[in-house]
Amino acid sequence: MGLSAAALLWGLPGLLLTIALHPALSPCPAQASVPAHRDYCVLGAGPAGLQMAYFLQRAGRDYAVFERAPRPGSFFTRYPRHRKLISINKRYTGKANAEFNLRHDWNSLLSHDPRLLFRHYSNAYFPDAGDMVRYLGDFADRLGLHVLYNTTIAHVTLNKDQRAWNGHYFILTDQKGQAYQCSVLLVATGLSVPNQVDFPGSEYLDGYESVSVDPEDFVGQNVLILGRGNSAFETAENILGVTNFIHMLSRSRVRLSWATHYVGDLRAINNGLLDTYQLKSLDGLLESDLTDLAIVKDLEGKFHVTLKFLLEEGNRSADAVPLPQDDNDNFALRVGYDRVIRCLGWNFDFSIFSKSLRLSAGGELSKKYPLVKASYESKGSRGLFVLGTASHSVDYRKSAGGFIHGFRYTVRAVHRLLEQRHHGVTWPSTKHPITQLASAIIRRVNEASGLYQMFSVLADVVLLEEAGGEVPPCRLASAAAHGHPPHRGRFPDGLDGPGGAHSAPEALPGELLRHRSPELLCRVLFPIRPNTPEAATLLPAGVPENTGARGN
Ligand SMILES: *[C@@H]1O[C@H](CO)[C@@H](O)[C@H](O)[C@H]1NC(C)=O
Ligand SMILES: *[C@@H]1O[C@H](CO)[C@@H](O)[C@H](O)[C@H]1NC(C)=O
Repeated sequence: MGLSAAALLWGLPGLLLTIALHPALSPCPAQASVPAHRDYCVLGAGPAGLQMAYFLQRAGRDYAVFERAPRPGSFFTRYPRHRKLISINKRYTGKANAEFNLRHDWNSLLSHDPRLLFRHYSNAYFPDAGDMVRYLGDFADRLGLHVLYNTTIAHVTLNKDQRAWNGHYFILTDQKGQAYQCSVLLVATGLSVPNQVDFPGSEYLDGYESVSVDPEDFVGQNVLILGRGNSAFETAENILGVTNFIHMLSRSRVRLSWATHYVGDLRAINNGLLDTYQLKSLDGLLESDLTDLAIVKDLEGKFHVTLKFLLEEGNRSADAVPLPQDDNDNFALRVGYDRVIRCLGWNFDFSIFSKSLRLSAGGELSKKYPLVKASYESKGSRGLFVLGTASHSVDYRKSAGGFIHGFRYTVRAVHRLLEQRHHGVTWPSTKHPITQLASAIIRRVNEASGLYQMFSVLADVVLLEEAGGEVPPCRLASAAAHGHPPHRGRFPDGLDGPGGAHSAPEALPGELLRHRSPELLCRVLFPIRPNTPEAATLLPAGVPENTGARGN
């Protein structure tokens, strides 16, 4: 009885979906327009989408992942163009502790299956992108994740409905016109639109996404590369040995990740050009605001870089290109280039989201990302979450949220948030006697990977239980009092999330950390009770070295 009832519940949406996927086979065409319902819809079967699918599957939730390509991880089938990932694959640490080892594994997704660790997929420290594609394919297949491949979601809109969890359903329409109704929408589409800067002559540019990767095509050429990120340097590295010279032009100075501690800055593996430049070869780095530029083609077909305002004064098609002058008349861009290559990064694809979703771009520094709260929920529509690379606005240039080794933990935090909000599942935590609290905290400091990668974003929270049941006065306790009562005396294990079990306002740790005052931070991490020397002595041991203070 119980079994067949369950089968009916599970079978029905599955059946609808099957009919929906084959509208041509459906005897009655009207049926094709009945939206299939899913509680959770995930857009994109890249690393973030698959990571969320894993957690939804383990929790037994009703979900589907929509992927336009025939297999997972399609971004990695083409990018990076030169095929070498810059995420490290550290196979040996000398330690058997799986959690600790994840601190140094930048490619694996989280799962219970030790076979699904990236170390089994490549021996290379900087692995080939093809191995990532193979890994993601296995991750989806072995775990039996529900991915609808070859399904391009062309349009997403919002339908107000009182019965919906969030007051509205998300309606997704695929390339065949089939609609899907979703209670929660998890957008994991990454950044997929090449960033283009518009200026006179920008039509002459080769884009990173399509430029040749065969060094033979650059023999004896003068090359200008626009951009100063890893894709720009990766492109330069590939042709360094065959070109006459390479110039790189960007708005601001190159930032080296070994100086900034930000993994998205220029990594040593790509900095060959910098090396030769510093050693006085012909290669060079130039700085200018790209929006002021103009590129002019001379009669020999060579490209010259000049400034937009000079063109307006002169004759654009003339052979004599007006060039900027400086005091010493040694303007570096006097030479002509055979090619100009644009390597300016990527933007989020806003085009499929209807205005009703109010999904907007972030501010000046994060306009390539959709605007989200510290909980990764869209500021515009409740129930829409952004995961993965596209969620990096939360910690842009600070932490690792734009990269697999960071967002696998923020995806987990969003999932825990959803479990709490929609299914009443409290955030996982462990309870320790007060005498063992110090060692529990030290263990977390020494081992926890989520906190290590997502420093200044994710946090553990300790709630102390007094004999009389009184929680010490700190902001966490008072915030928690608005919603769910704190589970006193619990040490939440892996409570590394925006919000956490005990806080109604999801944005709590992010919020607190943003207006961080050392005192407040300490009280959140370790609410200190007066006259409790054990707790007070913990602070210098753990906090400044291994949490928020690192890398900021
Ligand atoms: C997706 O499309 C490809 C090529 O068009 C095809 O080979 C593959 O079988 C399709 N996959 C699914 C799951 O429909
Ligand atoms: C620009 O220069 C070209 C060739 O040098 C000439 O044919 C054309 O008339 C000039 N245009 C203007 C607006 O001066």
